[in-house]
Formats: sequence, C-alpha cells, structure tokens
Amino acid sequence: MASLIDRDKQFIWHPFTPQKQMPDPIAIVKGSGSLLFDEMGNSYIDAISSWWVNLHGHAHPYIAEKIYQQALTLEQVIFAGFTHSPAVNLAERLLPLLPGSMSRIFYSDNGSTSTEVALKMALQYWWNLNPEKARTKILCFENSYHGDTFGAMSVSDRSVFTTPFVPLLFDVITIPLPNNGNLDSIKSIIHQYGNDIAAFIYEPMIQGAGGMNMYDSYLMNELLNSVKLYEVICVADEVMTGFGRTGTLFASEHYHKKPDIICLSKGLTGGTMALGVTACNNRIYNAFVDDDKRKTFFHGHSFTANPLACTAALASLDLLQQQSAIERIEWLCNEVAIFAKELINLNLQIQNVRVVGTVLAFEMQDVTKTYLHQIAQPFTKACLDRGVYIRPLGNTVYIMPPYSVTESEFEKIKSVILEVIKLFV
Ligand SMILES: Cc1ncc(COP(=O)(O)O)c(C=O)c1O
Repeated sequence: MASLIDRDKQFIWHPFTPQKQMPDPIAIVKGSGSLLFDEMGNSYIDAISSWWVNLHGHAHPYIAEKIYQQALTLEQVIFAGFTHSPAVNLAERLLPLLPGSMSRIFYSDNGSTSTEVALKMALQYWWNLNPEKARTKILCFENSYHGDTFGAMSVSDRSVFTTPFVPLLFDVITIPLPNNGNLDSIKSIIHQYGNDIAAFIYEPMIQGAGGMNMYDSYLMNELLNSVKLYEVICVADEVMTGFGRTGTLFASEHYHKKPDIICLSKGLTGGTMALGVTACNNRIYNAFVDDDKRKTFFHGHSFTANPLACTAALASLDLLQQQSAIERIEWLCNEVAIFAKELINLNLQIQNVRVVGTVLAFEMQDVTKTYLHQIAQPFTKACLDRGVYIRPLGNTVYIMPPYSVTESEFEKIKSVILEVIKLFV
C-alpha cells in the first residue's frame, strides 16, 4: 500500500503551494494542545495557530464533545425559512461583545465569504437607498488581503496572489497605511472622492497576509474620522485579528471610531470548523427592510449557519471568556513583547521587529518584503527540523501561537527562532 504522502502527491492539489518540485507534505495524524504530531511520531509546536485559526489548542475535548452532542441532535438544516438554537444563541452571545452597535449577524462559511458578504451588503445598501445614485467605489489599503473570491481579491492588494485575475477585478481606490508623513495626502483623496465611496474595508491594527504590517491607531482614528464625514460604510475585516490576537477581544476596540460592519472567521470556532460571520448595525440592516422585494439581500450558502460550526463557536466562546483564558492572553502578549525586546537587543541583523498583542513579526535579510523570497522554505524547514512550525510570508517571519501555548513551549519557539535566524543572517 502506498504511503499517505504518495497518495496525497497523486491526488491532492494543496492551497498556496507551487506544484512543481513541491516538497513532501507532512502527514499529521494528531493534534493536542499546541502540538501537531506526524505519522513518524515527531511533534511540532504550532507557532502560527494553523493559519491563525486555532485559539485553545488542537482537538480540544470540550469543543469536540459539544460538536459530537450537536451532531447527534441536528447536523445541518437549510437556513432560509428555518432556524435553530446554535445560530440564535451564537448571534445573541456575539453581538454584545462586538465593537460598535452591531445588531445583526449574517452567517457564511469562511473569511473570504465574510468579506464578500460585507462588500455586497455595503454596495446594496447604497442601491437600496437610491438605485440611480448608488455609490460604487470601495476604499482600501495597499498591501491588504481580504480573501480569494473575486470581490475579496478586488479589494485586496494587486500582488502575486491576484496577478492572473487583475483584468477582471473591479477598480478600487487604494491608499497607503497612514503614517506621520502621509495623513494629509490620504485625507485629500478622501475629500476628493468621499461622496462616491460606498465603503472602506480595512484590517484593523495589523495587515496579515500582506506582510504582518502593523500601523498606528491614533492615525487610523484620524482617518476613520475623515471617512465618516462622508458617511462611508466602515468595514472592519477582523478575520485574523478577532478573538484576542491583538490583546483586546477585537482589534476595533483600539479605535474610537467603530465600524458599521465586522467580518469574522478563523478563531470564531476556536479554529475547529469553517464558519464566517458578517455582523452589521441597524443603519445597514434597516436599508434591507422594505416592501420592495428587490431590496432583499439575495445571498446565501448551502451551509449558512451550520449547527455544528455554530456550536463550535459557542464552545470556543465559553473557553475564551473564562478568566484563565483572559489571563493566558495577557501572559502571551507580555511574553511576545519581551521576546521582541530580546530580538532587538541581540542586534541580529534582522529588520523591523514589531509586535501587536500576541503577534510578533520581523524581516529576514531584506528590509523590503517579498512574498516569493527564497528564504521562506528553508527557514520553515529548519524550524520544523527543530520541532517548531512557522510559515514565513516570504522573508517576513512571524509568530501567532495559540493561547494554549505553555511556558516551556514558548521558550522553545524562542530558542528555535534564534538558532534558525543565525543560520540565515
Ligand atoms: C484579514 C483576512 N481576511 C480574510 C481572509 C480570508 O479568509 P479565508 O482564508 O478563511 O477565506 C484572511 C485569511 O487569511 C484574512 O487574514
């Protein structure tokens, strides 16, 4: 019988993975806490929370039990014309936790669909108000990443991820992240187009896939002030930043100006199941309450509000709201900040060491970030060989561990990163 890896190589097409000369995938047979175990019995500390999804550790028994019980009760039901308690309980529980005055939850399946829904909601909002004068422009940041569906790609940076599709992506207004030197010029763009801009979509506090770019919250507040002058719908894409990653439950808490729409996924289910949420306030929702049926939001997915996924999200919230989890996140933020100081003090010829909450990032070799940088693969391999899994974005190395990471596991992440940096500088 061929090995799992050989069978994989014959039949599977992996995401974000060049297919020619692809290194063998690692066959993971088990996860427990912050560890992943391969079929050879090796273990790896999951220092990037399996693409930023895992919060409480892998195969968490509490979440697993809740999903199991729900699977025995109701695994799936159409969500048009029907409802169920996991979906309603989750909405009731989530809405008061969200920044702003969120009043409605729209469910979908993942981060890309959560942003796609947000964009369609925002655009249709203006159409519903007045089809002749509907605003159609979207404002977004350079280096942003909001997912891989066409709308999400359109509002993301034009990059290696989108190059083949550029002619088909809709036009957007792109601005740089605010810094002390450019705020006035960004504001003048907003003043120029403000009355045509339907929505502003942004990743609060940190841009993830675009290179773990962290930016100033004071300046962002200023920017949000300007945007709000024109009644632009503010869409916070908290797919990565939600559920404690930036030290607060949601990154939008760092700003005075709150969004009208929030997108969530990844950590929403503790990283257990695929689920997307697009939350909105009554300003948005009320524009869809009308006798005219054309003002309906005609969007949905087969698995909208899947009861198992909603149950996983409720179980994850149970864990996240325990005092011990809150203390764990505080501890991790502190450790990550200490590690950043150590990295800076060691003068290791790495660039731009930076931290927000539980996320730490820096660049290897070049100040400029390059997603196709040749260092990513050997860096990952060297860390894996030492029992730590990280996956640099080109030459941007970062960690974003699950909150279950123990003190000794964190020490190991640190020592492996230090050792591997020295191999490549
Ligand atoms: C900020 C942000 N938005 C959207 C997405 C897309 O999420 P998904 O991969 O679940 O489609 C991601 C994924 O990394 C993300 O980081």
